[in-house]
Amino acid sequence: MKIFIDSGDIGEIREAQSMGVIDGVTTNPSLLAKAGKPTKVAIAEICEVVDGPISAEVVAIDKDGILREGRELVKIHKNVVVKVPLIDEGLKAVRVFTQEGIKTNVTLCFSPAQALLAAKAGATYISPFVGRIDDTAGDGMDLISQIVTIYKNYNFTTEVLTASVRHPVHFVQAAMMGAHVATLPLKVIKQLTKHPLTDIGLKQFLEDAKKIPQS
Ligand code: G3P
Repeated sequence: MKIFIDSGDIGEIREAQSMGVIDGVTTNPSLLAKAGKPTKVAIAEICEVVDGPISAEVVAIDKDGILREGRELVKIHKNVVVKVPLIDEGLKAVRVFTQEGIKTNVTLCFSPAQALLAAKAGATYISPFVGRIDDTAGDGMDLISQIVTIYKNYNFTTEVLTASVRHPVHFVQAAMMGAHVATLPLKVIKQLTKHPLTDIGLKQFLEDAKKIPQS
């Protein structure tokens, strides 16, 4: 499973990249607002740090506006993927982007039916928001399982990008279910390396190392 970092913060992205585990980056307007830089500047900076798919989201909600913004975003760097909301106008734009060879990440997916339509339109990635479904007392990971099954049934090439990941269990379940990608906040990436037995074992090894004769 590929791991993307879900962030607009260049410091966080550099930190995750230096760990050697990052295959790409996803951003959204909320994350970029926190970063406090114009979208084009922030995305260009991110593309210099990570050599992989970098999702940059449009804010237009009509087909022509989405196409206009998306075509500008892909001029920033060859790795830019246009993130498009899962609305009728978004799907119309995805169809055109697909014909033009522009990669898309269809975002704000909350149902298997939406995911099936995005795949039909030719989306490169579908982003189901698992944490936000859990927040409404639903089961976000159940949605991932349904989409993976549907895409396998019909050999869709759209990749399932598990988004709105809130904790390590989401990450492990996504991998068990065969999701192609999980996009994680830096906090979750850091949680993944942690295990109390690693810390206890390391402490013991370092103490014992002091007892090894030096000559
Ligand atoms: O990039 C979209 C997604 O990952 C948002 O996550 O935590 O705001 O629901 P969250």
